[in-house]
Amino acid sequence: MSNASHTALDLPDEIARRRTFAIISHPDAGKTTLTEKFLLYGGAIQMAGQVRAKGEARRTRSDFMQMEKDRGISVSASAMSFDFGKYRFNLVDTPGHSDFSEDTYRTLTAVDAAIMVIDGAKGVESQTQKLFEVCRMRDLPILTFCNKMDRESRDTFEIIDEIQENLAIDVTPASWPIGVGRDFVGCYDILNDRLELMDRADRNKVAESVKIDGLDDPRLAEHVPAELLEQLKEELEMARELLPAFDRDAFLEGSMTPIWFGSAINSFGVKELMDGMGDYGPLPQVQTAQPRSISPDEKKVMGFVFKVQANMDPKHRDRVAFVRMASGHFKRGMKLTHVRSKKQMAISNPVLFLASDRELAEEAWAGDIIGIPNHGQLRIGDTLTEGEDIRVTGIPSFAPELLQSVRAGDPMKSKHLEKALMQFAEEGAAKVFKPAIGSGFIVGVVGALQFEVLASRIELEYGLPVRFGQSQFTSARWVTGPKDKVDAFVSINQQHISHDHNGDIVYMTRLQWDIDRVQRDYPELTLSATRELM
Ligand code: G4P
Repeated sequence: MSNASHTALDLPDEIARRRTFAIISHPDAGKTTLTEKFLLYGGAIQMAGQVRAKGEARRTRSDFMQMEKDRGISVSASAMSFDFGKYRFNLVDTPGHSDFSEDTYRTLTAVDAAIMVIDGAKGVESQTQKLFEVCRMRDLPILTFCNKMDRESRDTFEIIDEIQENLAIDVTPASWPIGVGRDFVGCYDILNDRLELMDRADRNKVAESVKIDGLDDPRLAEHVPAELLEQLKEELEMARELLPAFDRDAFLEGSMTPIWFGSAINSFGVKELMDGMGDYGPLPQVQTAQPRSISPDEKKVMGFVFKVQANMDPKHRDRVAFVRMASGHFKRGMKLTHVRSKKQMAISNPVLFLASDRELAEEAWAGDIIGIPNHGQLRIGDTLTEGEDIRVTGIPSFAPELLQSVRAGDPMKSKHLEKALMQFAEEGAAKVFKPAIGSGFIVGVVGALQFEVLASRIELEYGLPVRFGQSQFTSARWVTGPKDKVDAFVSINQQHISHDHNGDIVYMTRLQWDIDRVQRDYPELTLSATRELM
């Protein structure tokens, strides 16, 4: 993906106004609070709903699982669309817990930018760092929001230094905080020469904004105590000398991040951040694909599945494939070709995610995320086109690092368990292997917590208590090669062979030695730790 190219593209207005992004952060930095304020300003949720307990607000989002509520972790990702000024924002929610990295990586393939939220007192934390690295792999432009400035926080230069050092990215201040903790009065908006004053009395009130004509403007003294004003002037002068000025190209290439300071809970700094996303954020990007890349301005509709979620509504046993539109103007009822199966699908009930509700999508443009209810045909990595044989690439699949065997608590329910497991495999929540010999299944995940999540979901959604236990294998390798060679290999290694949910052949073992041996004895076969999603 080339970020530099999009400014040159002459996109139709409807596409050019779209901003599709995710928020990345360490748990507790304020992502939920910030999301809530975004939705509020986007008119997607009402003030009244927001004022109720935060727990309630959390439920207005994607959190429908008991486990999420109990443990306070966001397991399921969703997408939300709302208008802000002349822009259409598509916010894709990334699961925050480190154990869900696989899901998170894929989510980040569907966005054009990310907002990185950090806690002003804590700076760059471990999960922020990890997620940042993923964004970097894709050269995603990143806007930084330094949150909780209403509390004691670190020195502004120190925070900026830490980001520059730890993340190796240039930081340019978009705003500058005035005072800290109890004395925090607001920010100087560097990009627009404005003074933003925080209202501590009303958390939902948007900051008062005063137009300022440079740092010598007497209006500054009317609003900022003399001592703080002196400090602000000094710091801004230092910042000008020490820090780079905002450079949109550098930002779009992912080598510079503008930072805003604010307090999400006090609605402070949020609008400026949204303005920043709208005014400077990237337009829908060119999508890498085979045999050619897809430009958002192409007339023909194309899109790809980056996430599949089942049982979004426990009453309907449906699955929703989240599709990022890569090009064109989609209209409800269109027939699209499902490239993998070469079959046509009439997309009659596409869904747009409007904060708390799902709504039928009458149309969608490049950049949008729509949900397509289906019965399992649509899988992660699938491409939809108007007939062209083209496949979006770059959606990662991870090697399952932890394997466990799983059995239904009630042996009579083995078929049910199979169904549940296949569904989670298609969602990308786990890898599932059915051994060629014997009964039961082996489940592979990237992080240990995923076993717990699976057990809980299988019980909750299928009413099936399950038992995970030690597996006799610790490694899984997908086997590919000429059919006769694969067949010959399979027939004499039955005790090591399993099939994944696609029916693909997997070699399982405890020993690296076995893998080396197979590679030596069967040079025509390829053993890979992941199966490409394309
Ligand atoms: P997350 O999604 O990134 O995990 O963070 P979340 O928004 O849930 O916020 C984590 C905690 O930080 C919450 O407090 C939230 O109220 C608080 N918070 C968010 N923004 C700000 C801010 O600008 N200033 C201050 N001082 N706090 C902020 P909590 O105690 O966990 O929950 P609650 O009791 O507020 O519901």
